[in-house]
Amino acid sequence: MTHAQAADALVFYGVTGDLAFKKIFPALYAMARRGDLRVPVIGVARAPWSDGQLRNRARDAVARQGEVDAAVFDALAQRLRYVRGDYADPATFTALRTALGGAQRPAHYLAIPPAQFGTVVQQLAASGCTAGARVIVEKPFGRDRASAQELNRILLGCFDESRIYRIDHYLGKRPVQNMVFFRFANAFLESFWNRRFVKSVQITMAEDFGVQGRGAFFDQVGTVRDVVQNHLFQILANLAMEPPARADAESMRDEKVKVLKSIAPVATRDIVRGQFRGYLAEPGVATDSRTETFAALKLAIDSWRWAGVPFYIRAGKALAMTCTEVVVRLRRAPKVFPTHEGLPNYIRFRINPDMEIAMGASVMDADGEMVGRQVELMASHRPGARERDAYDRVLSDALAGDATLFARQDYVEEAWRIVDPVLAADTPVHSYAAGSWGPPQADAQLQPPGGWADPAVARRAAS
Ligand code: BG6
Repeated sequence: MTHAQAADALVFYGVTGDLAFKKIFPALYAMARRGDLRVPVIGVARAPWSDGQLRNRARDAVARQGEVDAAVFDALAQRLRYVRGDYADPATFTALRTALGGAQRPAHYLAIPPAQFGTVVQQLAASGCTAGARVIVEKPFGRDRASAQELNRILLGCFDESRIYRIDHYLGKRPVQNMVFFRFANAFLESFWNRRFVKSVQITMAEDFGVQGRGAFFDQVGTVRDVVQNHLFQILANLAMEPPARADAESMRDEKVKVLKSIAPVATRDIVRGQFRGYLAEPGVATDSRTETFAALKLAIDSWRWAGVPFYIRAGKALAMTCTEVVVRLRRAPKVFPTHEGLPNYIRFRINPDMEIAMGASVMDADGEMVGRQVELMASHRPGARERDAYDRVLSDALAGDATLFARQDYVEEAWRIVDPVLAADTPVHSYAAGSWGPPQADAQLQPPGGWADPAVARRAAS
């Protein structure tokens, strides 16, 4: 759904960085392949690059993902321009204004540290680059509620809320969007999607790798800020939200904010933090760092639908496998068959690396009289090579002016409100072995009923 006019140029700050290389150039290439890239793309950064060097970098980035189609790449390359300069220097923005030519509705994409937002936004305003423009900003949006409010104040000085697109690329992931679609496009789920039937909900985002050279960034951030406050709260909101009045961006986002408003700040007893052994030796990490690379949390949504249902979140680096998965366990059926142990039903959404929706149910075992066996009814989807990646989706939407998949100011501030106390509390950081499921304290202190589900095992533990 498009609400604003499409942008007529993309200006990309931080174009020499890692994000551009890994995510943005491949996304622009995919857009060019579909014929959807119709605007000039102007990269801005400090390095003394030429247009040609920018194009070479783009080619390397695309080649890293697979074969490069020369015609498609040319369609992208002919749109790329480079503007070199310091963000504090007005001359950079004079050069940018010239490069923008007759563009009336540029999209300024700030893939730069938030500390530089203020400088760039002021320069944009002074050089006449904000008229008709929109701004796209990367996560994490602030470090806590107060700094997010300050960033908002800076951006709102030049752009009204409808022209600010706060990226959370998890929202661009098809299985994350599909959670909302699956919930509201089917009638059967609604009858049990509530406190009367659901016993507990758990969300796991496990990664089997460490900080991958991003130690200096990660050490300032930690797991709660890096993925819990944004990606995993978005998943939580998709699971827990009420049906929106309409499918437009504001109606959708209103419902998500309402979920967060019903959540009290996390108590310090309801978080377990961990750090994998070996983290302190990572380049860029302080030798005495207390930054968490693992976090497990328990939350409560105090709403009519969810009161009394515990929600658990765990996320970490250097864990046993890479997998993002949700398991919603239902209450057991009353016992009718004396020989049937009555395993609980569950719904499972796997978001990464596979896309699966599964339902755990009991059937009669082939060998026994009225003895139960748990099976999964599963729908899975393997993404084809041409399926749109999350950055392709969010960038295309921001350029088109559809804000549905972006975090609104009130949402971001509510999300920080929930984690602010535990960020400030400096709770213990327990060490854990790389390749494990995190510190044992996560099991001892924050065990969901029936235990943490092991994503490697299809059959879930009984509660
Ligand atoms: C990013 C985090 O936002 O998301 C990373 O900064 C994390 O630490 C990444 O690895 C996970 O996203 P994806 O799409 O690569 O699974």
